[in-house]
Amino acid sequence: TGLNHEPPTAWLAGPPPRGGRLHASHKGSYGDVAVVGGEGLALRGMGMTGAALLAGSAALHGGAGRVLVSLLDQDQATEIHTQPELMLRRFEALELESLSVVCGCGGGQAVRTVLPAVLQRAQALVLDADALNIISTDGALQQALTARSARQHPTVLTPHPLEAARLLHTTSAQVQAHRLMAARELAKKFQCTVALKGSGTVIAHPDDIPHINPTGNGSLATAGTGDVLAGLLGAGLAAGMMPLQAAIRAVFAHGQVADAWPLDEPLTAGALARRIKIG
Ligand code: APR
Ligand code: MG
Repeated sequence: TGLNHEPPTAWLAGPPPRGGRLHASHKGSYGDVAVVGGEGLALRGMGMTGAALLAGSAALHGGAGRVLVSLLDQDQATEIHTQPELMLRRFEALELESLSVVCGCGGGQAVRTVLPAVLQRAQALVLDADALNIISTDGALQQALTARSARQHPTVLTPHPLEAARLLHTTSAQVQAHRLMAARELAKKFQCTVALKGSGTVIAHPDDIPHINPTGNGSLATAGTGDVLAGLLGAGLAAGMMPLQAAIRAVFAHGQVADAWPLDEPLTAGALARRIKIG
């Protein structure tokens, strides 16, 4: 299948995991990821892979056993993807209870209709971009997110500074001026793990000292690299990592790949996803 069969502990040459145990139901397996989103950005118009497919590709290269993709903003019958390992599925056909779901990489307002089920039922969850923006304007969904955390379902938010600002009802300038505090506040507010992206991504977890990721560089400031991170993180959760450990490792690996990028090659999100290696 081309999948790497090394155990998740050999995922990357990154920092050692910080505590936590494998999630029992995934023990010994690589787990399945479902990406629920859409084409997003203007990428497709530029002849590039859309947001959800980028996340799906990153999840595959990050070692997920199977990757299902639900494109909410277009006709599933249109076979647009070039990577046959990605399986397109209607959202209604996903068995959310047994999946690590990556939600919000593209999809726009269509994400609103699936969020209640995703928050209620997904076994593990990464919330990105469109999902975060919708949650920031919807009190009922915010309650569903906190209720999910109270049930101890692994959940990671991956906002960039503007998405974090919307969730905190402030400005991205304020978030950037107080990045550690903003990440902690978000983790506390929703009782889940947060990766506040940007140079020196901050990873926060309720009642824990936040981490600052040392890898990555300005070449990541190109469309779609955040989608790649979300997919990679989904693969870590599917492999059974605890959310804090999964976030630290995914962010570290994502930046590490960018730091090792050949100087004579442009970094694009699609190529970034394909260059992710586990083991
Ligand atoms: N140094 C290190 N890492 C960086 C740097 C930098 N200077 N610049 C960017 N990055 C990393 C971030 O930490 C993050 O992992 O690149 C990634 C960029 O992610 P996003 O900000 O989500 O960018 P992108 O994937 O293009 O998504 C933008 O998503 O949120 C939506 O509406 C938004 O359509 C837009 C899209
Ligand atoms: Mg993004």
